[in-house]
Amino acid sequence: MTMPFENIGACVFDAYGTLFDVHSAVGRFRQRLGDRADQVSALWRTKQLEYTWLRSLMGRHEDFWQVTGDALDYALDSNDIEDAELRSSLMDAYLELDCYPEVRTVLESLKEAGIKLAILSNGTPLMLQAAVSGAGLGDVLETILSVEDVGIYKPDPSVYQLAVDRLQMEESRISFQSSNSWDAVGAAAFGFRVAWVNRFKQRRERLPASPDAEISTLAELPALVGVE
Ligand code: LAC
Repeated sequence: MTMPFENIGACVFDAYGTLFDVHSAVGRFRQRLGDRADQVSALWRTKQLEYTWLRSLMGRHEDFWQVTGDALDYALDSNDIEDAELRSSLMDAYLELDCYPEVRTVLESLKEAGIKLAILSNGTPLMLQAAVSGAGLGDVLETILSVEDVGIYKPDPSVYQLAVDRLQMEESRISFQSSNSWDAVGAAAFGFRVAWVNRFKQRRERLPASPDAEISTLAELPALVGVE
């Protein structure tokens, strides 16, 4: 049994995979992609993340829109798909991802309880703004923080520091939520209270920090931070 998080003043959320379903982009083109759809979507996501880590290590930052496009090119190429129109439609779909069904209700109840809410993501401000507007979440979020302000990707500690600086709150009073296990580990190493939203029933990472709690969807978050 996980101990509830005490004295939480802000909940900070990862965007892609945590609030927004990254596979909903390919999902809209399932018919056109046929039996390659799942493969394309999975490889697109895997490469997108790998490219963020590699670019950060190489000191060659480009923003997440560029990286997302590069990763899509790799995924399409790997599946022998050459279709500029489809590529463009998939990129557009990335700006209008579905949000997970429980998100809106959870954010509303946290906000009503006086908890500040923010997104902290690899996404560019433009991508995040589009996703937030599309999902109708603009009115519940206090702020949307992008790695573009520091020019390096998660899990570099300077990214997590952005939330401390902008929210003007100690890291121990910030609850950070991510479905990306490596992001949850990075945030825990930084010093946030971390809830890993293990949507995909993955095994725990073998890395030098661990999330404080594991939940299966965000619906369990209000209780975890003491909001009934
Ligand atoms: C993000 C990636 C990690 O939103 O999903 O930052």
